[in-house]
Amino acid sequence: MQSTLSAFDNFTVQSEQPTGLHVAIIMDGNGRWAARRNLPRVAGHRAGVAAVKRIVEHAPLVGVGCLTVYAFSSDNWRRPSTEVQSIFWLLRAFLRLERAKLRQAGVRLEVIGRRDRIPKLLLREINQAIAATAGGTQLLLRVAIDYSSRDAIMSAALGVSRSFLHERLHGASLRDLLAQELAAESGEVDLLIRTGGEKRLSDFLLWECAYAELWFTDRMWPDFEPGDLDAALGEFRQRERRFGGVPMASTPAAVGGA
Ligand code: FPP
Repeated sequence: MQSTLSAFDNFTVQSEQPTGLHVAIIMDGNGRWAARRNLPRVAGHRAGVAAVKRIVEHAPLVGVGCLTVYAFSSDNWRRPSTEVQSIFWLLRAFLRLERAKLRQAGVRLEVIGRRDRIPKLLLREINQAIAATAGGTQLLLRVAIDYSSRDAIMSAALGVSRSFLHERLHGASLRDLLAQELAAESGEVDLLIRTGGEKRLSDFLLWECAYAELWFTDRMWPDFEPGDLDAALGEFRQRERRFGGVPMASTPAAVGGA
């Protein structure tokens, strides 16, 4: 089902979910990385793009099927317009320069978030990159731009309730339709990584992270290396995911019960 609020529509019609883990990353620390080197903030974002390239290359090799990265939150509009413009410029350059490489590597691009406030030139680059990479099967790379999880949930709820009222969707429960709408927006996150030392979700994939394992590092995003992703995945694989259940060892079957 498509949301009825076009501003929040996904940029593409969602096709099948990829196999492999869904890892989401809050790429924090670009500004501090730059400040520590007496560089302008934009230099941190540029180094952040280089880190994205490294991780996109590495992710499919280590069992990641879907990678969602937080490039620009809806709250980031509060930043000085020069910084906002420079982030958009870097995103455009990334999409233009990396498009062929992404396609060759079997990466399929998706963009999530609002589309109505994104500059036209960036929007065009996004649409071209989505079209060029549509056949990718190795990794689904989802870039969140002008994204707010609360807004996405609100938009899904409004869209579904309107359809429910106007199209009289008999037999379907509002709850199921909403769950279906939110699931179509993006799958569950398995592992959420946040760099830069802060430990919060910052309005990122709140619904999808309901049972995500969380992994935080003090490392600034531009310093994030494939080895860090390996470390996060290593820890993730050690953790027992119970989804609200009980440990396997204490189920009746495991202790000799029925
Ligand atoms: C957070 O660091 C980073 C951002 C708000 C922008 C991230 C954007 C990129 C890395 C651009 C490229 C993305 C792709 C997909 C190519 P911060 O500026 O909040 O750092 P600070 O907390 O140290 O100030």
